[in-house]
Amino acid sequence: MNKAIKWGVIGCGNIAQKFVKDLQYVNNSQLYAIASTNKERREFFSDIYNPKKVYKTYESLVQDENVDIVYVATTHNFHYKNTLLCLEANKPVLCEKPICINAKELKHLIGAAKKRKVFLMEALWTRFLPAVKHLITEIENGIIGKPKLIKADFGIMKPPTKGSRFYEKKLGAGALLDLGVYTINFSNFIFGKSPISVSGFAKLTTQNVDEYSAYNLKYESGQIAQLLSSVSFKTPHTAKIYGEKGEIVVHDFYHPKRYTVFFFNGKKITIDKPFPGFGYQYEAVEAQECLLKQKTESTIFSLNDSLKVLTIMDTLRKEWGITYPNDL
Ligand SMILES: NC(=O)c1ccc[n+]([C@@H]2O[C@H](COP(=O)([O-])OP(=O)(O)OC[C@H]3O[C@@H](n4cnc5c(N)ncnc54)[C@H](OP(=O)(O)O)[C@@H]3O)[C@@H](O)[C@H]2O)c1
Repeated sequence: MNKAIKWGVIGCGNIAQKFVKDLQYVNNSQLYAIASTNKERREFFSDIYNPKKVYKTYESLVQDENVDIVYVATTHNFHYKNTLLCLEANKPVLCEKPICINAKELKHLIGAAKKRKVFLMEALWTRFLPAVKHLITEIENGIIGKPKLIKADFGIMKPPTKGSRFYEKKLGAGALLDLGVYTINFSNFIFGKSPISVSGFAKLTTQNVDEYSAYNLKYESGQIAQLLSSVSFKTPHTAKIYGEKGEIVVHDFYHPKRYTVFFFNGKKITIDKPFPGFGYQYEAVEAQECLLKQKTESTIFSLNDSLKVLTIMDTLRKEWGITYPNDL
């Protein structure tokens, strides 16, 4: 048996708890250290999840020589700064989505990771889920012929309370960065490349971030994605892929356990790929495998894949007039 990989967690909020719970499904993994700037969160988290080390500062966690990899789980606006801190201490990083606010930040991080030959990956868990891996392979194998058009929606309803990361510009608020990261990635997964043209509309909040937005991507050989994201109303979270031979419906497309193919000849098949927990274990497994193989990035979901999506989001934000303090 391999030695357990010791995880350090930076930021002890909502997602950090779910991720840490799913580590139970990852062989040879250990929650070793946590760091939170907030006393209550630190105590709450350490009481429940019982890490060996509890740090008040992120700086002390990255200086701990026993930490093998850091999971960065702070709000979007801090990802660049926190990830850079880790990389400069030669710590491999799995960083929550969106890995950065803009492409410029990510280019710096990629440079820092490559310079030190340290692993870095965006925690785009969807790409590693069994149903999504299976779906991508089936599409490549031509199950519906050439995929022509995708529709995907990701709307959630969050109240516009003061300080909410969904509405607070300085925390990287807005639907596109938080949820568009899934719709755009999903479209790129299915079409296997980056679009050649992007455009859309957004309803902006008083802080000038997108409360909801709808955008279209056009790919080289005429393929089209019609996508939407929202933080102020719920949508079904369904992706539909239309191809030459049929339609594929993926419910909860950002964490599906099954998908259904409706062939135009009337035949129908459902592929079931259940998993325990929330599904965050698969991205952790990929990160651990990369570490064991001394890879500095994933070949399944590369840094260039992340960069392509941030570049699309930069273009849309420019069209909509949305800027963040991190853009300066
Ligand atoms: N993969 C997924 O399914 C998924 C789901 C939800 C969220 N996420 C991503 O995970 C990240 C965190 O989301 P979350 O919902 O977990 O956020 P959260 O609970 O609101 O905050 C996470 C952590 O960020 C730091 N933080 C939050 N607000 C801050 C502020 N005003 N000033 C300074 N630090 C602050 C805190 O770190 P300390 O504990 O150190 O104080 C907090 O524990 C986001 O980037 C989000 O996109 C991913």
